[in-house]
Amino acid sequence: MQKIIVANFKMNLVLKFEIENWIKGFLRYKQELASLNTGIVLAPPILSTLNFIEQFKDIKSIAVGLQDSFWERKGSFTGGISASTLKSYGGEYVILGHSERKKYFGETEEVVAYKLQGVSKLGLKSIVCVGETKEEKEKDLTKESLGRQLKTYLDDFPPGRLDKLILCYEPVWAISTNKPVNPPTADEMMTAKLMMKKFLVEKYGASQAEKVKILYGGSANQHNVEEICFEASMDGVLVGKASLVPAELMGMIKRVEERSL
Ligand code: PGA
Repeated sequence: MQKIIVANFKMNLVLKFEIENWIKGFLRYKQELASLNTGIVLAPPILSTLNFIEQFKDIKSIAVGLQDSFWERKGSFTGGISASTLKSYGGEYVILGHSERKKYFGETEEVVAYKLQGVSKLGLKSIVCVGETKEEKEKDLTKESLGRQLKTYLDDFPPGRLDKLILCYEPVWAISTNKPVNPPTADEMMTAKLMMKKFLVEKYGASQAEKVKILYGGSANQHNVEEICFEASMDGVLVGKASLVPAELMGMIKRVEERSL
């Protein structure tokens, strides 16, 4: 299965020169990027999205995505972000349900489910984050937490759209804020992946469940990306902090690409 590396810039690189430097830095690898088997998704800060689509439109392995979108396509929703706009400009992915959306923007699991419906109706690909909090982990409730989120998110999700669904196991406690944290072990990641797969198999059957990629996110970097993608057999990574430096992101891409060949 093709591995995917998703760069989630969050609300970083917020100044014009920072964005321009990043784009310039990443385009230095244009030749290598052009021949990749690995899929790359760039989710920049919202106001730079169209610029990214324009700058990377000739590189087939690169797609551009949003970090969030509203569930309606259009209307009186001040400040809302429409995934329709992304689609009409040629963007392909939307990240949904990130724990920072829940923590800072009050997003509930029901809201994530609505948003997933909105994005999938448009035929865009959704990258849906699922993960346990520190408290849930300490109480040994990881399985219940993942199950509860998947049940809510996929309640009305039709099997015909599973090929556009990507799940990302993002243990909330492993997402680096300012301090470095240790990501879960390969065994822990694999266990979470199996729990998520089992849920999908029970709901949709084995052949449909096969279509859904399951990525890992939380403190992924050049040094652990191979362990995540190969030892723990995740289908790719969602990268926050390490994606902010083009050379670091490219380092991760190269490691995954070389091991996939
Ligand atoms: P991180 O962020 O790589 O900085 O831990 C990952 C994420 O939150 O998507």
